[in-house]
Amino acid sequence: MTGKGTILVTGGAGYVGSHTVLELLNNNYSVIALDNLVNCYAEKNDKPESLKRVEKLTGKQIIFYNVDIRDKTSLDKIFKVHSIDFVIHFAALKAVGESVQIPLTYYQNNIAGSSTLFEVMQSNGVKKIVFSSSATVYGIPQFLPITEEHPTGQGCTNPYGKTKYFVEEILKDVCVSDHEWKVILLRYFNPVGAHESGEIGEDPSGIPNNLMPYIAQVAVGRREKVYVFGNDYPTPDGTGVRDYIHITDLAIGHVQALTKLNDTTFFGWKAFNLGTGRGYSVLDVINAFSKASGKIIKHEFVNRREGDVAASFADASLAKIELNWTATRGIDEMCKDTWNWQSKNPNGFKKK
Ligand code: NAD
Ligand code: WQD
Repeated sequence: MTGKGTILVTGGAGYVGSHTVLELLNNNYSVIALDNLVNCYAEKNDKPESLKRVEKLTGKQIIFYNVDIRDKTSLDKIFKVHSIDFVIHFAALKAVGESVQIPLTYYQNNIAGSSTLFEVMQSNGVKKIVFSSSATVYGIPQFLPITEEHPTGQGCTNPYGKTKYFVEEILKDVCVSDHEWKVILLRYFNPVGAHESGEIGEDPSGIPNNLMPYIAQVAVGRREKVYVFGNDYPTPDGTGVRDYIHITDLAIGHVQALTKLNDTTFFGWKAFNLGTGRGYSVLDVINAFSKASGKIIKHEFVNRREGDVAASFADASLAKIELNWTATRGIDEMCKDTWNWQSKNPNGFKKK
């Protein structure tokens, strides 16, 4: 075992993955990252740009494999070559709208891919995993703030959300079948922001689906205005309310989850919300971003987006008690760091 242990990070070159790899390296873990590059940028035959920047920021090396989680043979080789202590599983397709158009691709990638990974873990005796789940598994909130006890799977209206729910269920079944497994399901609320250096951040391809990257592209002049999806919700200003969480806080949540996996009294599975516990409306975020960037952010109210809920925010107290984790970065810091990343890298990781 090197340092505190060796972590295989699937989807390690993506947004949440790259920020988590950085925190893992800073916490003395060794990292093997794998990614099939479907949603991250790499020069031909080179490591993904995000991971090259993480290496620069940390002064540490990352072993990287350009591998698909559905490729059982290649996965198995990685487990045979390296002594892996834990897996953090990020690799997935994540665009809600796209998942409605091509559900089979989402089920194949996210569910078949995850189950292939778990099979390879099982056959190599690696039974400790942190899984990237989502508040989307709660569907339409029956109460707020949302606790981990909230029913899951009932109101997942899109294939993407269902893949998160199904993979959670698969992992729960694996824990029933084999008591050596230790599984932490991290249910993220709305990850935003970037590392404080501005060297890594969210780099969506095409038109951003999510609010914060869209606002950032308006601020930097790549898009004209923000379309606000609905101003007639039963919320204080009529726009949707969400629990935005700084990506660095989220990444640190994964490091804390590994500590929990090392706890000899912990077995089976447990789910934790990662959020701040505070909700902000779309207009709150636009105003905070305007303040952080010094730019006027033009916006226009349009119809509600199908499938959106009025408000969603976490009860994050379980993670505080059991993972010793709390989000410390507020909305102003989330906007400041997004702006720092966006203005330093107007075209994301690509040079132009
Ligand atoms: P991302 O797209 O930036 O990162 C995912 C990475 O996985 C990408 O680099 C992609 O190339 C890779 N990948 C996809 N399919 C793969 C496959 N079959 N084999 C190998 N690599 C593959 O997304 P992200 O925002 O970093 O999300 C990471 C995880 O967190 C995902 O599982 C996502 O569903 C989950 N999540 C994200 C959010 C969010 O808002 N960002 C919220 C809740 C949950
Ligand atoms: C936030 C608010 C929109 C864009 C999604 C996924 C969820 C999770 C996180 C992965 C809402 C409004 C947005 C825009 C807008 N991902 N909005 N104009 O929908 O809460 O969650 O990302 O698991 O599964 O569904 O995040 O950033 O898209 O929207 O007015 O151009 O901003 O209506 O109120 P969402 P979001």
